[in-house]
Amino acid sequence: MAKDFSLMEDSNRSSNPSIHDVSDPSRRQVLRGGLGALASSFLAPLSAIGGAAALTGCASLGMSPAAKIGFKSVAISTADRITVPEGYMAHVIAAWGEPVGIAGQNNQFKEDASNTAAEQETQMGMHHDGIHFYALDGSKRGLLAMNHEYVDHGLLFKDGAANWSAEKVRKSQAAHGVSVIEVQEKGGKWEVVNPSKYARRITTNTRMALGGPVAGHAMVKTAADPEGKVVLGTLNNCASGITPWGTYLTSEENFINYFSGGDKLSEHERRWGLKKGGVGYRWHEHDARFDATQNPNEPNRFGWIVEIDPQNPNATPVKRTAMGRGAHEGATVAVTKDNRAVVYMGEDARFEYIYKFVSRDAIKPGGAAANTTLLDHGTLYVAKFNADGKGQWLALTHGQGPLTAANGFADQGEVLIKARQASDILGATKMDRPEWIDVDKQGWVYATLTNNSNRGGNKRPAVDAANPRANNTQGNIIRWKEDVDFHATTFAWNQFIMAGDPSADRADAKGNIKGDIFSCPDGLWVDGRGLMWIQTDMSTSNMGKGDLKNFGNNMMLAADVQTGETRRFLVGPVGSEVTGVTETPDGKTMFVNIQHPGETPSEQTNPANPRAISNWPDQKPTGRPRSATVVIRKLDGCIIGT
Ligand code: FEO
Ligand code: CA
Ligand code: CA
Ligand code: CA
Repeated sequence: MAKDFSLMEDSNRSSNPSIHDVSDPSRRQVLRGGLGALASSFLAPLSAIGGAAALTGCASLGMSPAAKIGFKSVAISTADRITVPEGYMAHVIAAWGEPVGIAGQNNQFKEDASNTAAEQETQMGMHHDGIHFYALDGSKRGLLAMNHEYVDHGLLFKDGAANWSAEKVRKSQAAHGVSVIEVQEKGGKWEVVNPSKYARRITTNTRMALGGPVAGHAMVKTAADPEGKVVLGTLNNCASGITPWGTYLTSEENFINYFSGGDKLSEHERRWGLKKGGVGYRWHEHDARFDATQNPNEPNRFGWIVEIDPQNPNATPVKRTAMGRGAHEGATVAVTKDNRAVVYMGEDARFEYIYKFVSRDAIKPGGAAANTTLLDHGTLYVAKFNADGKGQWLALTHGQGPLTAANGFADQGEVLIKARQASDILGATKMDRPEWIDVDKQGWVYATLTNNSNRGGNKRPAVDAANPRANNTQGNIIRWKEDVDFHATTFAWNQFIMAGDPSADRADAKGNIKGDIFSCPDGLWVDGRGLMWIQTDMSTSNMGKGDLKNFGNNMMLAADVQTGETRRFLVGPVGSEVTGVTETPDGKTMFVNIQHPGETPSEQTNPANPRAISNWPDQKPTGRPRSATVVIRKLDGCIIGT
């Protein structure tokens, strides 16, 4: 039976009022604007923030609050290839199954997918997603840290999910997580350095620590970890973030799908979307950790933002629980004028929320070593978008307002583990699946709301000002500007772009795009020059049909944040999602991840015919489609996007 493995949850049954009911004119404030730039790289040991370094050569462009688009757009396409604009070249590195470069572990990819679990633990994972470049030697050599969101068992194994075994579960877990690889440019082409002292795989079995208020909490103690402080691994790692102190933030998105629930689900389990028997990963059949009937606290140990130091392969990753639990899409860091870290996070699930975390302490000079607990102390907030174009950040602080023991929150740890329930009771705004978030040079914070076909209609939350479309098949990009500074508790907001097709049958699906059309925005990143990049994720079950019939394959566009103009830069191969983008500090090399080329509507490939839809990138008669990183350069050697 077809299973939706990347199913986004829709388990918010709270009765928060629509924003028409809760808008509060007394909170109106004058927007001050002019917030100044995002974190500069002054605290980072390496150039952690892409574009912070001087852009040399082609220098007339420089840094600008309103970078202009300079390339000629590419057409919509349904081809099984990457399309980039005239004057650009692209090549592929680091596809699923290739060795990451760990010394003595040079296990090559076998195109019949017969690599073992142990080999997969040293190879690139599947379904590449969020990615960031950490410069080691200017813009010629560096590290790429990237997420591997989920897997397709029909591609991962020669015989798919048949003969299901502990070895198969182990390999599936090993294809999840994060890769750290060293890459370098040689003669205009980039390659993975093998061996490299930095090369690392982090999987669903890598030992990691719990940091922050949930560490040691009763709700995260298990038989295997009676102290509740050490968790094995991370999973469903979607968008990523970076810190000014040089670390990588990976988010655990639809974690609940990996767990199998029983006949009787608790209210807490239902609110987090646990299903009887799970949704098809079948890990629980050979790994009792994922059987929530045996280990009911194990799901509470997932859904966190995990901090990784990509420059230290021996450093233990830490789950930063002060930033709350959620089906986290990503974690984007901004810095206040007094050097506190503000982390924006969306929960990609229907009718869930947008959060921000404000650190208690200022970022210290000295890189990762000086900021090992910065993200363990601070205040978590959830967003309420009012109908008057203003908004509030509501604190998830135990003892404040309704967040008391009487309402089911014994302490701050329980507030964080039950962040959804806390947001429900605070009356936060239920959003249309928030995905990536980023900040432009003027201090506007943008969030993609990818789609929500469940909005409106019977028993579903109705439209509201921030989520104004019933049956939102196209998605939109909302933006807000904080009052005074990033730590503010009030903001002003508006819609940046309503995505859609002007020729759509439904008036509500037409959108207001200026320029090249797109649907279902997901990835969003503002580059060092100030140009916005938008990546789309139309689901393979809807692509090419209905409201999405005219969009072709998933794509990446550039947007001018001042005018809202969009221009299509890249189209991915058939059945792929374009997700994850980063650049070298000089802006001249871009890395873009292509996830699940050839995905079927069921998200599970028929192992007897793995090339049925796509054979990208190898195009070998005996191969199979593979997620991979695309390296993009301009033929004239100038800055990408110009
Ligand atoms: Fe993993 Fe919400 O995309
Ligand atoms: Ca995404
Ligand atoms: Ca998505
Ligand atoms: Ca996907």
